[in-house]
Amino acid sequence: MSKKNFVLAIDGFSSCGKSTVAKALAKQLNFVFVDSGAMYRAVTLYVQRHNIALDDEDAIQKALDDIHIDFIPNPDKTQILLNGEDVSDAIRTMEVSDYVSEVSAIKSVRKAMVHQQQQLGKKRDIVMDGRDIGTTVFPDAALKIFMTASPQIRAERRYAELTAKGELVTMEEVKENLSHRDHIDSTREESPLRQAEDAIVLDNSDLNQEEQLAFVLDLVKQRLNKI
Ligand code: DC
Repeated sequence: MSKKNFVLAIDGFSSCGKSTVAKALAKQLNFVFVDSGAMYRAVTLYVQRHNIALDDEDAIQKALDDIHIDFIPNPDKTQILLNGEDVSDAIRTMEVSDYVSEVSAIKSVRKAMVHQQQQLGKKRDIVMDGRDIGTTVFPDAALKIFMTASPQIRAERRYAELTAKGELVTMEEVKENLSHRDHIDSTREESPLRQAEDAIVLDNSDLNQEEQLAFVLDLVKQRLNKI
């Protein structure tokens, strides 16, 4: 009998540090890291570039048929390719952030992305971070973590990330964007952000990276011993 792949699902609000922890865990465990938010961001970029109206279902479906997303793992950073183009930086702008929750609330977009994410989980042991990984994409994940941090800490982290890249944003704009996305992400009809019943909460407001890693690695070891 073949061994089942280990799926580590990490969900939580925007800018809780999910991707940073997920990436480091994948490296330590030699799992594949998949940033599912990057997939929704890539779709958003495509929709913006092609001026597609969000209520134009046919155009959205056609766009989804045309969109091909790849992850290329590199030692320092995973590249995200949209139809062969490296869009790793282009998908992180405020312009995309301001629009991504609306795009990711569209039923056909979710259906297509969830399907692609499930396919990725069939091939290898993975760490996937997002909003609905433990609830919808992999309800049978071997381990589910739900990450939280205080709103102030999340805003500070996001502001630092954007200004380090030279984006001209104010703290107020960042806070507004986070609360806008929290609201849409958790109230949308299709797989809203919520904590899976069997998820373990990790509040990292006062934890450094090593402490977060140690916390999750310990849980992974316990689960690995059981399967
Ligand atoms: O993780 P992130 O902030 O890069 O995600 C961008 C957006 O994508 C987020 O506001 C909501 C959406 N998203 C989603 O709806 N489902 C996921 N599994 C991951 C992200």
